[in-house]
Amino acid sequence: MTTKQTSVQIEVRGLCKQFADHVVLDKLTLSVTPGEIFVLMGPSGTGKSVFLKLLAGLDRPTAGSIRINDIPLEEVKKQQTFVLGLVFQAGALFNSMSVFDNLALYFREHAICGEDEIARRIDRVLKLLNLESTEHLMPSDLSGGMKKRVALARGLLMQPDVLLFDEPTSELDPITAASIIELIGYVNRKLNITTVVVSHDLALAKSIADHIGVLQNGKIDEIYTKESLLNSKNAFVQNFLNPNINIQHPNFGTLLS
Ligand SMILES: Nc1ncnc2c1ncn2[C@@H]1O[C@H](COP(=O)(O)OP(=O)(O)O)[C@@H](O)[C@H]1O
Ligand SMILES: [Mg+2]
Repeated sequence: MTTKQTSVQIEVRGLCKQFADHVVLDKLTLSVTPGEIFVLMGPSGTGKSVFLKLLAGLDRPTAGSIRINDIPLEEVKKQQTFVLGLVFQAGALFNSMSVFDNLALYFREHAICGEDEIARRIDRVLKLLNLESTEHLMPSDLSGGMKKRVALARGLLMQPDVLLFDEPTSELDPITAASIIELIGYVNRKLNITTVVVSHDLALAKSIADHIGVLQNGKIDEIYTKESLLNSKNAFVQNFLNPNINIQHPNFGTLLS
């Protein structure tokens, strides 16, 4: 687990993604500066996961470009110039394998190093994430927060140049969510890895984001800091941050009864 000497810059220009005639991303443009935490927010179904999959190179855009340190993403993937570590929403661990075997899978499948080196690397990452002595546990023995930590451990073992998180605090109670948020901030500072988080969790953005974009109609109008987000005059952003439940709605009574 070495600190990267130089963190990478991400440039997204005019990114479009369309499924049949459904436009999800519409000329999305943003920059993520080296070593920062960029948080992309927005209500459910606005295209946050779609964006992250494009960024991880798991899907192709309809138009537009993503460049990492000025190298097109397709080249980055082909030449393996940089490693993009995606930490999935649910963690997606294999239930039939221990924590150790889940973590070792990537190394064994790609024959990256021998068992002694695998054990050393796993030991180091488990210490970093406060997961010592969990290697023999099965996923079903882990709490929700521990599963997220193991998923992060797996992402870090790939020694990524970019860390991508999809809703890292979803399905967690507020205290566990706060500890995961803190851990993402800690890992970012400690390893200096450019980090992109997609989330609708305002607490997350307020505590660790260097910059924040709010996805609206497939694009971002303005890049905020923690402070400027809360003072935004944009009606969509204000409504997203302080949703007004309309108690005059004709169906409200039936929902309650
Ligand atoms: N593979 C796909 N095929 C068709 N539509 C999709 C596909 N993936 C996502 N979508 C649609 O794109 C929109 C954005 O989805 P998503 O990125 O998952 O939203 P969220 O912001 O909640 O992560 C949704 O309307 C979803 O149905
Ligand atoms: Mg999503």
